[in-house]
Amino acid sequence: MSKPDVLAAAKLHPFYRQALDAHYTVHDRTHELDPAAFAQIAPRIVGVAATGESLVPGSLLERLPSARVVSVFGVGYDGVDVAAALRLGVPVTHTPGVLSDDVADLAMALVLSVARQVPQADAFVRAGRWLDGPLPLGRKVSGARMGIVGMGRIGQAIATRAQAFGMSIAYTARTAKGDLPYRFLPDSVSLAAESDFLVAITPGGAATRHLIDASVLAALGPQGFLINVARGSVVDEQALIEALSQGRIAGAGLDVFADEPRVPDALRSMPQVVLTPHMASATAQTRQAMADLAFANIQAGIEGRALHTPVPEWTAKAQG
Ligand code: NAP
Ligand code: 8YV
Repeated sequence: MSKPDVLAAAKLHPFYRQALDAHYTVHDRTHELDPAAFAQIAPRIVGVAATGESLVPGSLLERLPSARVVSVFGVGYDGVDVAAALRLGVPVTHTPGVLSDDVADLAMALVLSVARQVPQADAFVRAGRWLDGPLPLGRKVSGARMGIVGMGRIGQAIATRAQAFGMSIAYTARTAKGDLPYRFLPDSVSLAAESDFLVAITPGGAATRHLIDASVLAALGPQGFLINVARGSVVDEQALIEALSQGRIAGAGLDVFADEPRVPDALRSMPQVVLTPHMASATAQTRQAMADLAFANIQAGIEGRALHTPVPEWTAKAQG
């Protein structure tokens, strides 16, 4: 008996792909790579496997009348047209929680890297420049002020780590969290004005587009550092480049970009910037946990069983 058909909306991580291959016939980006073949298989597709970066527009979902689930390997699902999925009755799932520790770890790694110039120091020693004198002084992290834009699962994991560094913590989000011991500020500008390190960790999408704009960077000021582990769309990248090149902020640690994997030459040439390739959840342990959860979700959706981690919009719809 032939295996049910699943569409991979993007190149999948091998852990997720291997689990899918054992149970399904996986059509790898056929909608983009072979439209004629896609027209043949589209009516048979029962599940869509996606990633945090992939696009699943309504126009694609409309061509999949048998689709029973979209399972995102990632907590962020801003590339999925959730409104269209809801309208078509196709649930969307994601992988919340299992990656929070890793993303928070990388946020702290970027804080330490930009402030203590770790990549620059490594290059300095390797190049033999130590023989000529010391590296310029860095910025102390312990005891500094951290501002967190987005106090959800990952924001809270970052705050826990920052507390261990003796940092004072303030945050902004859509709503204040009365149960948390951190100071709430109503918007990113007022938060930036009181932060040495401003960390962005909201979802992407239209609602947060350019949440960190020129006015937020101005408020952060010449001694302030921006860390973005959210989505490239959350930061106005052009405004960031201008603020960095004119010394209007001190530096930045960036894991995500507006048009990744393309990164502007301006950012790549700046010494006060530390760049990582959207790798905040990229450890073997966490990618395995994400693959297990994404697979459990797609299988549950295809078999009509209860979903493990549907996105909140689907849960809200199901609860009427
Ligand atoms: P979460 O638990 O849903 O938390 C999201 C937080 O963002 C919430 O506190 C929410 O506020 C806040 N928020 C949403 N819209 C906002 C707005 N317009 N202004 C201010 N705050 C806003 O999600 P999570 O699990 O922490 O993940 C957060 C995001 O991190 C993901 O969606 C993804 O984009 C990104 N991420 C990146 C990587 C990476 O590899 N770099 C890895 C994983 C995740 P409320 O609490 O008031 O609703
Ligand atoms: C992943 C992410 O890099 O979870 C997210 O939202 O951005 C990351 O964990 C991505 O989903 C894997 O492709």
